[in-house]
Amino acid sequence: MELVGFLWSSSICLLAVLLIQFLRGGKARNSSGQLPPGPRGWPLVGNLFDLGEVPHQALLDLKEKYGPVMMLKFGAMNTVIIQSSKAAMEMFKNHDLTYSGRTITDAMTACKYHEGSLAVAQYGPYWRTVKRLCITALTINKRVNETISLRRKSIDKMIQWIEEGAKTQGGVQVGHYVFLMNFNLLGNLMMSRDLIDPQSNEGPEFLKAMDKIMILAGQPNVANYFPFLKWLDPQRIRKKMDEALGQGLRIVTGFLKERIENQKLGEGEGQAKISDKNAVSLMLEMFFGGTETTTSTIEWAMTELLRSPETMNKVRRELADVVGPNRRLEESDIEKLHYLQAVVKETLRLHPAIPFLIPRRAVKDNIFMGYHIPKDTQVLVNAWAIGRDQDSWDDPLSFKPERFVASDIDYKGQHFEFIPFGAGRRICPDTIDMKERMGITLRKNVPLKALPKKRSVHYGIN
Ligand code: HEM
Repeated sequence: MELVGFLWSSSICLLAVLLIQFLRGGKARNSSGQLPPGPRGWPLVGNLFDLGEVPHQALLDLKEKYGPVMMLKFGAMNTVIIQSSKAAMEMFKNHDLTYSGRTITDAMTACKYHEGSLAVAQYGPYWRTVKRLCITALTINKRVNETISLRRKSIDKMIQWIEEGAKTQGGVQVGHYVFLMNFNLLGNLMMSRDLIDPQSNEGPEFLKAMDKIMILAGQPNVANYFPFLKWLDPQRIRKKMDEALGQGLRIVTGFLKERIENQKLGEGEGQAKISDKNAVSLMLEMFFGGTETTTSTIEWAMTELLRSPETMNKVRRELADVVGPNRRLEESDIEKLHYLQAVVKETLRLHPAIPFLIPRRAVKDNIFMGYHIPKDTQVLVNAWAIGRDQDSWDDPLSFKPERFVASDIDYKGQHFEFIPFGAGRRICPDTIDMKERMGITLRKNVPLKALPKKRSVHYGIN
């Protein structure tokens, strides 16, 4: 009798615990082992409210309580957050292949964009072929040198716009002009045309479509957290994305028509074939990858320089020493501009353009730093938090380019305290030497407005 009573009361207790766990989104342990710690979530939505308005900041705030490897649940999606250089090193050095998948959001499936994309391609033959192509295009010295004049032309245009803007408006929005310059630069590099051309309607239309795509791609979408809602597309994000992406793809197809007909991409031995449709998606992706990221970095660099006159003066002095007063800056000067390079690194440390990198996905169940990580868990690496970690950096919140001057720390994915371009297999293909070439996102909330002043010399750097 006592035994029966004991079993009854234990079963009731167990049920109550399970119910509470379910209702509170509990996830302390599963059958395969201990999951990483993390805040208890709410029924159904899990930890969505823990993300706050600035997710990389809100998640860093949780690190003190839960440590550098946390697990949260967004709806039905398990998500691991990595927030220290040690945990990042463990991930990229010893688990890179396991975490080389990508989570594909519902919006990315519009127009089957994900099938052509490199950034959200699953690790495999297609990704390998396209990544190789992309790295080759970005790094072959000969090609980079051949296109110097195109970059010069785009930068000269930007300076002209800024001068005109300064005359009519006084202060100019730095990010706006830098974005247009980047956009035109990519148009020239990939399609041999000025996209921001007063004579053409396609450029502004393309710009508008890209803007819409980027806004939609960043919008929180319940269909990502509850996959059973995907068919319903409750916020109509996929539908709107279908329209915006459709328009972007149509415009790029028009630009590329003759080129695609004359070229067959990626048909060498051991390479996956790239269809015309996928080639167009890739071109569009280069615009996403190459505009917001570089624009936000330059805007932040200018902001930091304007609020630190001493640093600005050091940059000016270096430019005066290396470039002198009678000619303008050339790309070949960049390798001698050590302080300017340190300014760029310091900007990327404090303001990485993609604070969580591009989300990875665990391709199988695995054990990470003693924790069980189930297959399909999304992995976010908080590069923003890691760049500000006082265990890795002295006086981490201050903008001090000097810390990089006599240091060999670079952004190529070998120094895990500084990973603005990611690391491992999925590292950004744009991590080539700055001395060869100056070059998804965290733009300033309040755009930088600055008063440009022209240098007095004829070929001045403005
Ligand atoms: C300041 C400039 C840039 C920053 C900070 C940046 C940052 C990043 C980051 C953090 C990732 C994710 C890496 C990971 O998952 O570990 C990435 C991937 C990528 N970036 Fe960049 N990026 C920049 C410029 C560019 C440019 C100019 C292009 C192309 C023209 C580009 C194309 C890509 C592509 C295609 C991927 C996906 C690579 C893959 O999944 O294998 N990025 N970038």
